[in-house]
Amino acid sequence: MSDSRPIGIFDSGVGGLTVLNELKKYLPYEHMIYVGDTARVPYGNKSKNLIQQYSKEISEFLISKNCKMIVVACNTASSLALEYLRSKYSLPIEGVIDAGVDEAIKETTNNHIGVLGTHSTIQSGAYESKLKENRSDIHVINQACPLFVPLAEEGWLEGEIPEKIANVYLKPLLHAHVDSVILGCTHYPILKRTIYNVLPENVKLVDSGEAVSQKVIQILKQNKTGTSSKTFGNLECYVTDLPSQFSRVAKRFVDFPIGEVKTIELHPS
Ligand code: DGL
Repeated sequence: MSDSRPIGIFDSGVGGLTVLNELKKYLPYEHMIYVGDTARVPYGNKSKNLIQQYSKEISEFLISKNCKMIVVACNTASSLALEYLRSKYSLPIEGVIDAGVDEAIKETTNNHIGVLGTHSTIQSGAYESKLKENRSDIHVINQACPLFVPLAEEGWLEGEIPEKIANVYLKPLLHAHVDSVILGCTHYPILKRTIYNVLPENVKLVDSGEAVSQKVIQILKQNKTGTSSKTFGNLECYVTDLPSQFSRVAKRFVDFPIGEVKTIELHPS
């Protein structure tokens, strides 16, 4: 059995490309469709209702494109809209939270885990409750880092300003001696080098993009919906505004050409 339908992936902007990059590495023959909601980024300081509405509009677009599954490559949407989407649609929908939690628990040796995320992700408590559900003895230090998102969208990834901002955000994690830090926003791996510079060498950064790829492979296997093609899959990229800005930034952190980026209009249904 071979299922050549595409995998749909979405984020508020360029951040989900960190997930796409990993998925392409492990599943090079699958067709993929990426949507970045660049007209409405950031999601991280918006209400649950709005995030659910935006996530629904994007999911309906991906379903109209015949996707066989959806990867919510956005921690904010995974925290606040995943269950909502699963209750509405029957195709498999995977988020990034569970994968990051499993990985962080594997990595920690002192049980002090830091979680970086947007305001909405941190306020939702999604990471903290999942971590504690798995291991009640884990200490969680949460930190919202809202300025990382515009830095990533602008491609302003290294140097004095990003490092100063990272210093301020990461101080509470340093004081708490965390040894494992979840990058709980898909934009943050783009700033990995700057974040590493501020943290002691023993601290492991958990990139949920890497971790979620394994979950997607599992789902395709279980449902027997993987492709058996041996030619590289296509990639279609869509944004809701400024495709050229998206292409410019995207080039800096995906290992393959993203091709033409098309603009779509999303509407409440
Ligand atoms: N990249 C997203 C996340 O993982 C959202 C960032 C934002 O739009 O605020 O949370």
